[in-house]
Amino acid sequence: MSTMSEQVILNIAGVNKRFGGLQALTDVGIKIMKGQIYGLIGPNGAGKTTFFNVITGLYQPDTGTFELAGKPYSPSAPHAVAKAGIARTFQNIRLFGEMTALENVMVGRHVRSHQGVFGAVFRHKAAREEEASIRRRSQELLDFVGIGQFANRTSRFLSYGDQRRLEIARALATDPQLLALDEPAAGMNATEKLALRELLVKIKNEGKTVLLIEHDVKLMMGLCDRLTVLEYGKPIAEGLPAEIQSNKAVIEAYLGGSH
Ligand SMILES: Nc1ncnc2c1ncn2[C@@H]1O[C@H](COP(=O)(O)OP(=O)(O)O)[C@@H](O)[C@H]1O
Ligand SMILES: [Mg+2]
Repeated sequence: MSTMSEQVILNIAGVNKRFGGLQALTDVGIKIMKGQIYGLIGPNGAGKTTFFNVITGLYQPDTGTFELAGKPYSPSAPHAVAKAGIARTFQNIRLFGEMTALENVMVGRHVRSHQGVFGAVFRHKAAREEEASIRRRSQELLDFVGIGQFANRTSRFLSYGDQRRLEIARALATDPQLLALDEPAAGMNATEKLALRELLVKIKNEGKTVLLIEHDVKLMMGLCDRLTVLEYGKPIAEGLPAEIQSNKAVIEAYLGGSH
């Protein structure tokens, strides 16, 4: 059977990554189906961000095979991966702080535009029209993540939670096949976390596929369709939230510990 709902969006296998004497990733793989929220959890230093950096072209892996929506892709550079259809956010917020919220999203949208940034500068008619449509779409995305009223605010003046939302809007602006979020709830208070949870559900309901790193185990178990657990760069468990929660190795490594 191969219905739409069973389409594999991300299929990665055999990823190894070494930093000098440290084996940061050992034979890591992941398979994400269309429409899933897929969780990646594990103690600090387990290799979660390194895995994100490898699949998005920021770090070169030593080995690994990479497929997005059934097509092999080469995670050779971040812009190539963005074009292939993976958008991400960072554990530490990376916005253009002096630009407005709307401008930050428009920058993301330009990855998908035909005229590109230069077309926007030269202002030919086609470029002007595309610019207007990028502006409209970017405003829609700000509305979607709940910060439409701050479109013209300089982004560094947004609250922490709103900056995180803005990063998500910017990532969505590329119309990604996969949205990869590295600790989007980090530093959020309980209210902001609840709102983030609602936003992620909304994103899922739009049919998007999400790969999520997050420390809040309760949040993850309630939100994710499946999860992979990393420890010391190795996958120690994969499965449904209930399977993960009752997995002995996971409890010892992670759930039962200081977390
Ligand atoms: N660029 C790098 N150079 C050297 N070591 C790194 C680099 N990036 C990550 N590491 C190391 O790889 C391990 C995994 O880190 P990381 O992927 O950030 O873990 P996590 O996101 O799960 O907390 C850590 O020991 C970290 O110090
Ligand atoms: Mg990390």
